[in-house]
Amino acid sequence: MALSVRTRLFVAVALTLFSARFVHAAEIYMDHKIPVELRVKALLSRMTLVEKIGQMMQIERSVANASVIRKFRIGSVLSAGGSTPEVNKPEAWQEMVDSFQSGALRTRLKIPMLYGIDAVHGHNAAYGATIFPHNIGLGCTRDRELVKRIGAVTALELRATGIPYTFAPCVAVCRDPRWGRCYESFSEDPSLVRKMTDVIYGLQGVGPPGLPFVAGRSKVAACAKHYVGDGGTRKGINANNTILSFEDLVKIHMVPYFDAIAKGVSTIMISYSSWNGVKMHANRFLITDVLKGKLRFKGFVISDYQGIDQITTPPDANYTYSVLASINAGIDMVMVPMDYKGFLSNLTSLVNSGFVPMKRIDDAVRRILRVKFSMGLFEHPLAERSYLHHFGVQGNKDVAREAVRKSLVLLKNGKDKSQPFLPLSKKATKILVAGTHADSIGLQCGGWTISWQGSPNDTTKGTTILHAIKTAVSKPTRVLHKASPERGYAARSKADFAVVVVGEPPYAEGRGDNQNLTIPAEGLRTIKNVCPEVKCLVILISGRPLVVQPYLHLMEAFVAAWLPGTQGKGITDVIFGDYEFVGKLSRTWFRSVDQLPMNVGDAEYDPLFPFGYGLRMDIKHKTP
Ligand code: GLC
Repeated sequence: MALSVRTRLFVAVALTLFSARFVHAAEIYMDHKIPVELRVKALLSRMTLVEKIGQMMQIERSVANASVIRKFRIGSVLSAGGSTPEVNKPEAWQEMVDSFQSGALRTRLKIPMLYGIDAVHGHNAAYGATIFPHNIGLGCTRDRELVKRIGAVTALELRATGIPYTFAPCVAVCRDPRWGRCYESFSEDPSLVRKMTDVIYGLQGVGPPGLPFVAGRSKVAACAKHYVGDGGTRKGINANNTILSFEDLVKIHMVPYFDAIAKGVSTIMISYSSWNGVKMHANRFLITDVLKGKLRFKGFVISDYQGIDQITTPPDANYTYSVLASINAGIDMVMVPMDYKGFLSNLTSLVNSGFVPMKRIDDAVRRILRVKFSMGLFEHPLAERSYLHHFGVQGNKDVAREAVRKSLVLLKNGKDKSQPFLPLSKKATKILVAGTHADSIGLQCGGWTISWQGSPNDTTKGTTILHAIKTAVSKPTRVLHKASPERGYAARSKADFAVVVVGEPPYAEGRGDNQNLTIPAEGLRTIKNVCPEVKCLVILISGRPLVVQPYLHLMEAFVAAWLPGTQGKGITDVIFGDYEFVGKLSRTWFRSVDQLPMNVGDAEYDPLFPFGYGLRMDIKHKTP
């Protein structure tokens, strides 16, 4: 039957309107001029359950490739500690990230993949990147403007490798230095940690308060971690139990998140630890009711690496329950990171059977899309080739050198005030440099450097303390170097003075848990062999205060240098008097481990050096 002209006209108009509306819906989420919330709503309305769950999965780069990402609609990929492209060069990082992205951009909805990495003291996985002092040293600077600049440099060097997201800053309030991650914490004092969250402004840029925000392609999305109470576990045992009243949990460990959220942090990572026996990864009250409800966090909540797996422990570990408990607790993105098929099938069946409501899934995906839209990832999903020139440049290293200078804490200078030992003379006839940590980039950088655990070898570019000394002194000055001199060597050397650089081996997370906190034997031996024979400055390279009282009397001067990173000249700038010491302790220096935990403000407080302590040389010098 022929259609009347009128009917044909009506059908044509209707089809045009429908297709326009369909195209309109298809286009609206791709249109950056449309408000973020409208783009989120439009895109979410078109997503299938598989596509939604795909956005909730973060997988490790070692199991990722373009076809896996496309097939499973994977929303995020990470480099776990030390997981780097075969050739560790910025160009190779860019190619790797873009190859993953090509899979995401070939999915039906073309939702870009978000690549994340632990850039916790610079872009520490990338060979040649600028490596800054770890947070314990930055806390000693108390310099908010400096940490903001450090964040900005870190963001640039991340973007130079095509990476738009870092799992930093760690805003832990470490209350016990026996914890292997204490160096990742700015301080034992919540108010000092709160100030240091300004690093988020450096990483992300400054946006509307309380909303996830990343100011364009020279900035990256940040991640405040690990929520909540990671630094308060029993005896500092990593990932263990934090036993506190809710009031104390808030005023000690939660307050830095108030600032991080106000400063627009895009994501928050959940802690492996437990609060009063409840695993944080299953804690609906603290994640949904407090963090998302009371604190009105609008970004997305990400699990830690296999964090949901630890909700139940073998032998009765039950992954289905882990998925159920963690997603219903309010976790939005899961750092799976390997068995994405297992996660997908478990969550799909939990949703289809009604155990996980679709509105919980929609809340998770809404938050993830909100971050991706607000950081411009849809507009600029690929690496900026032109940013390669930001990587490891001198200007960045100068910021790190300044940070080293300001992080050093002078704890002893001369056997009495009338005879200060520092500054050292650049015109000495002979200097003995000793100690295991005098000539090792790896040792001065510590954990989370190139590899997850770090290494004592020269794993990246930088200036060792020995090299910095050789460069700083006058031409005629002879610099002797022996890592572990035997007794008598120093005396025979007839050196004017010795610089003894000792400390801890590199470590990360639980491998750094330590119940006795003594200076490792080889370093102790060097102090005992050298300092009684030649006047010595001891520089301690460590992730925390160590037992030092029994040996202080042997030292003319003692400096805490923490884990200074690649710019060793920041140390010689100060010990030779070009710059003044400005660092003040960010943590209490105990006399004995039997006193621990002991923090500023405690009723019983009898430290060797109190929180905030730090001497000056009081010389005419350049401003720090
Ligand atoms: C680790 C750490 C966390 C890190 C994550 C990804 O286990 O707990 O700080 O961001 O895994 O490497």
